[in-house]
Amino acid sequence: MFDTMTMTKAGAAVIGALLFFLLGSWAADSLYSTEAGGHGEDGHTATGYMIATDAEGGAEEEAEEAVPFADLLAAADPAKGEKVYGKCKACHKLEDGANGTGPHLYGLIDRPIGGVDGFNYSDALAGLGGNWGPDELNEWLANPKAYAPGNKMTYAGLKKEEDRADLIAYLQTIGG
Ligand code: HEC
Repeated sequence: MFDTMTMTKAGAAVIGALLFFLLGSWAADSLYSTEAGGHGEDGHTATGYMIATDAEGGAEEEAEEAVPFADLLAAADPAKGEKVYGKCKACHKLEDGANGTGPHLYGLIDRPIGGVDGFNYSDALAGLGGNWGPDELNEWLANPKAYAPGNKMTYAGLKKEEDRADLIAYLQTIGG
């Protein structure tokens, strides 16, 4: 009985050590191949990919400059914009005067920035001045934090310019 226990324990220890060894060398292997990849052909691919991404970003920016936002907006699809608006719904309503976490967006286009009565704007947004024209909205929605540092709209931004154009085209159909 005692002997069997010892044997079992010893066996378990051996198997455990073996497993540990196998796992260890497997981990080392994958570590090694990752590292090797960094210097080897894979590494080149990775670098190439990064450059490709950069180039793509640059091309996109060029394209953005080449096509004025007004043109994108003219070709935008309000029906798609209504879907994009789903990302705003949690905080914004479209009915006049219906403020939620954010101010209502009824008649937003060309409305004064920070201009909804009874909504408690941050100083960052209230201090901007001007109106929400399509270009201002385009910039704000791309990156709210950058547009008005310190504002309290906790939304990362809409990366795709087409999405912003569609959304603004949709908002143009709401009131005002
Ligand atoms: C998590 C909540 C939240 C989400 C999501 C959100 N917003 Fe906002 N939004 C706010 C808040 C809060 C403010 C007021 C910010 C301030 O006063 O600093 C605001 C302000 C605005 C303003 C300025 C309005 C004015 O009267 O000056 C616009 C325009 C706007 N949001 C549009 C959008 C759109 C379009 C989306 C969707 C793409 C969106 N927001 C998503 C919370 C949100």
